[in-house]
Amino acid sequence: MKKVITYGSFDLFHEGHYKLLQRAKALGDYLIVGVTTEHFDTMRGKLNLVDPIMTRIENVRATGFADEIIVEDHDGQKIEDIQKYGVDIFTVGSDWTGKFDYLNAYCKVVYLERTPDISSTIIREGRGSLIRIGIVGTGRVAPRFFEESSYVSGAEVVAAYNPDVDSAMEFNRIYQLPTYVENFDEFLGKVDAIYVASPNETHADYVRKGLESGKHVLCEKPMTFTFAESQELYNMAKSKGLKLMEGIRAAYLPAFQQIIATAKSGTIGRICNVEACFSRLPVVGSREQYDYKYSGAFLEYGSYGMLPIFKLLGVDYQSVEIESILGENGIDIYTEARFKYDGCLATAKAGDGVKSEGQLIIAGTEGYILVQSPWWLADSFEVRYEDPSRIERHKAEFQGGGFRYEISEFINKIRDPESVDYKLTAGESRAMAKVVEKFMEQRKQIQGE
Ligand code: CTP
Repeated sequence: MKKVITYGSFDLFHEGHYKLLQRAKALGDYLIVGVTTEHFDTMRGKLNLVDPIMTRIENVRATGFADEIIVEDHDGQKIEDIQKYGVDIFTVGSDWTGKFDYLNAYCKVVYLERTPDISSTIIREGRGSLIRIGIVGTGRVAPRFFEESSYVSGAEVVAAYNPDVDSAMEFNRIYQLPTYVENFDEFLGKVDAIYVASPNETHADYVRKGLESGKHVLCEKPMTFTFAESQELYNMAKSKGLKLMEGIRAAYLPAFQQIIATAKSGTIGRICNVEACFSRLPVVGSREQYDYKYSGAFLEYGSYGMLPIFKLLGVDYQSVEIESILGENGIDIYTEARFKYDGCLATAKAGDGVKSEGQLIIAGTEGYILVQSPWWLADSFEVRYEDPSRIERHKAEFQGGGFRYEISEFINKIRDPESVDYKLTAGESRAMAKVVEKFMEQRKQIQGE
C-alpha cells in the first residue's frame, strides 16, 4: 500500500484545496492529511485564520479523499510523521517548490501544480473590505508598524499624520504614503482606523478625536494619564460600537498568553511573587532623555511590567507604592511600582537610563516560571522547581518583530464585534492608567508644580 501525506491550514476551504487533496489521493492508496493548529499557524506568522481547527478538519473530511486526518502542531513534525506512518510520498502545492526537498531523505517529495487565482488569503481579504489604517505620529515606531502590517491580511496602512513637518516629510519620502501635516479631519476621512504613536501627552486627544469621528483606535501606551480619562475613552468606544485597544505588544505574542496560562494552571502552586523588569538605555538626545514632564522610565516602560502583574493577579491590589531614581533634569531614570495583594507581592521595574536584566519571574509555592530577557519578546520560557535538574522548557516562537500579532488582534476585533478581549482587557488597561495617574501626581509634587 502506497501512503501519501500532505499538510495545510485549509482555511475557508476552497477549490484549490479540493483539487490538491484529490490529486494527492491519486498519487497512492492511502492519504494522510495534516491540519495545522491555530497556535502553530500563529507561531509561523500565518495570522487571521478564520475557521477554527474543527471546521477545517471537517472540511477536509467532507471531501472524502482523506483516509486519516492528523493535527500538525510543531516544527519538525513532518519528519516524525513520515517515519511514524511509514509514508512513501510527501506532497504539497507548487507554491512550496523546493521548500521541502529536505524530506527526500525520508520519502519521495512531489510538488503538485497549484490551482491558479485562488487562496485562503484572497478569500479572507475579499470577505470583509480592507481595513484602512492611518498612523498618527511618524516617529520611531511608525516604520515598524508600517512594515509589520503588511503581514496581516485585511490591514492596509494608507496614510500618516504628523504636525511636525520635517518628520512627516521624511516618513513620506521613505514610505511613499500620503502624509498629512495639518487638517487632521481630512486625514481621518481617508481611514477606517488609526494607530496612535505620537508623543505620550497627545495620545488621549487623538484617541478621542478618532473615536468621535467613528474610527477604531489602537493607541500606544500610556493611552492616558488618568483613570477617569481612560474610562471615558473606553465608554465612548463602547457606546459607538468601536474598538479601542492599548498597544502593549507583549500582550499579543503567542508565548505570553502561554506563560500566563501555565502560571495560572497550578503547575507552580499558588503564585506569591511576580517580578518584571524592562530597561533600556536611551538614544542620546531622544525625547525620553529630556521630556521630564511626559516621558521617562515609568511612562515609557512601566506598562510592560504591570501587564503580567495584572494578568496574573488581577487589578484589585491592596496597595501600590511607586519610587523613582531621578536623573539630572528630574526625569525618572529608574522606577519601581510595588504592588501588595492578598497573599502576594509584585514589582514592576522600569529603567530608561539604567540597565538591568529584563526578566519576568513568577514565583509559586511549588516552583517558578523564568522568562529570560527580553521577556516582553518571549519566544520561550522555563518552569523550574526545587530540584535544579528538573526544568520544563516551553517554546512558542513568533515571526518578525512581533508587532504583527498586535495588529492582527486589532483587525480581528474590528472584523468580529462579538470577539472577547482577553489578551489585554479594557479593565486591565484602565488599571494601568490608575497607576500612571498616581505616578504623575507624585511627579508633580517632586517637580513642585
Ligand atoms: N493549494 C493549491 N492551490 C491553491 C491554494 C492552495 O494547490 N490555489 C494547496 C497548497 O499548496 C497546500 C494546500 O493547498 O499544499 C493547503 O494550502 P493552504 O496553505 O492551507 O492554503 P492557501 O490557500 O495557500 O492559504 P493561504 O492563502 O493562507 O496561504
